Amino acid sequence: FDLSARNTLALRARSRFGLTVTAPGTLPALFAHAAGEGVPVRVLGGGSNVVLAEDFDGITALVALSGRRIIDESSDHVLVEAAAGETWHNLVAWTVDQGLGGIENLALIPGTAGAAPVQNIGAYGAELADFFLSLDAYDRETSQTVTFDRAACAFAYRDSAFKHAPDRYVVLAIRLALPKAWQPNLRFAGLTDLADTPGLSPRMVMDRVIALRQSKLPDWRVNPNAGSFFQNPILPVADAAPVLAEFPEAPNYPQPDGQTKLSAGWLIEKSGLKGFQMGRVGMSERHALVVVNHGGATQSDVAALAAHVKATVRNRFAVQLHEEPIFL
Ligand code: EPU
Repeated sequence: FDLSARNTLALRARSRFGLTVTAPGTLPALFAHAAGEGVPVRVLGGGSNVVLAEDFDGITALVALSGRRIIDESSDHVLVEAAAGETWHNLVAWTVDQGLGGIENLALIPGTAGAAPVQNIGAYGAELADFFLSLDAYDRETSQTVTFDRAACAFAYRDSAFKHAPDRYVVLAIRLALPKAWQPNLRFAGLTDLADTPGLSPRMVMDRVIALRQSKLPDWRVNPNAGSFFQNPILPVADAAPVLAEFPEAPNYPQPDGQTKLSAGWLIEKSGLKGFQMGRVGMSERHALVVVNHGGATQSDVAALAAHVKATVRNRFAVQLHEEPIFL
């Protein structure tokens, strides 16, 4: 089963079996049967935050659960539910169509609604956790469907409980609470000037975010990629100090816990690796944080490039980078 068109890095990847999941009720039988046969099962959403192995000797379950609706409202929030297979950006655009604000800063992030909580997707000063209410997931260990509220998800920067329990849960549906009194979130560079716009609407912010992303990030349909390939490193102030002493202009963001977040893209560019090519893969010449597949690459090509980038940045700045996508 060919997966090269089902991962946004367009890596050469195959699975012995592929199965499309269109109803949650089929999961218990799938996992029970596979366990009985000794065949491993892994779950794939939009394939936008994974680095797939070239060969997987098992079943790849493609989550295609669909549906989205307004389920309820409280005095100050509208509650929206989306099945895991819904395309994230379509969900954002649909909420904006309903006149609902909140997640417009997260427009155009590739992937599915079900994958969004796993890495707590974030962009332009917002993250999923800010609007998250709960999710339903199938627990492969207990064969039960469980509901996680926001606290149980343990969201942090590009992190959640699900990242630490790989292969245990299959997200089935997520619920968001969107505020009835919309507050535009324009703190991020590229959005601040919108504050002066008369009649500013969620749609206008969404359109700006789309334009910003299109101007900065390579389009995975043209230059296959998985978005930011490394997390922005969050360091004790003492560890960030040498970088900032040498480059006072280096982008840095103080964190609520007193640490400092540096920009991985900036560190990679300053290490001379923007546009760096290594065989079939390279760091984008448009954005130094994005790994692009120049054609026919495999997981091992990506792993070799990532190791080289990490070592180069470590030698230059004594900063350790960590991959953002999940190697499957
Ligand atoms: N920069 C460089 N060189 C580059 C790229 C960036 O010096 O080649 C500098 C920029 O000038 C800027 C800083 O790095 O001062 C930050 O760059 P940018 O605004 O592009 O954001 P980022 O920190 O690289 C993060 C998220 C993105 C998200 C953007 C916008 C992470 C790992 N990435 O990127 O998320 O879209 O902010 O909010 O936190 C993703 O996770 O896949 C992703 C695309």
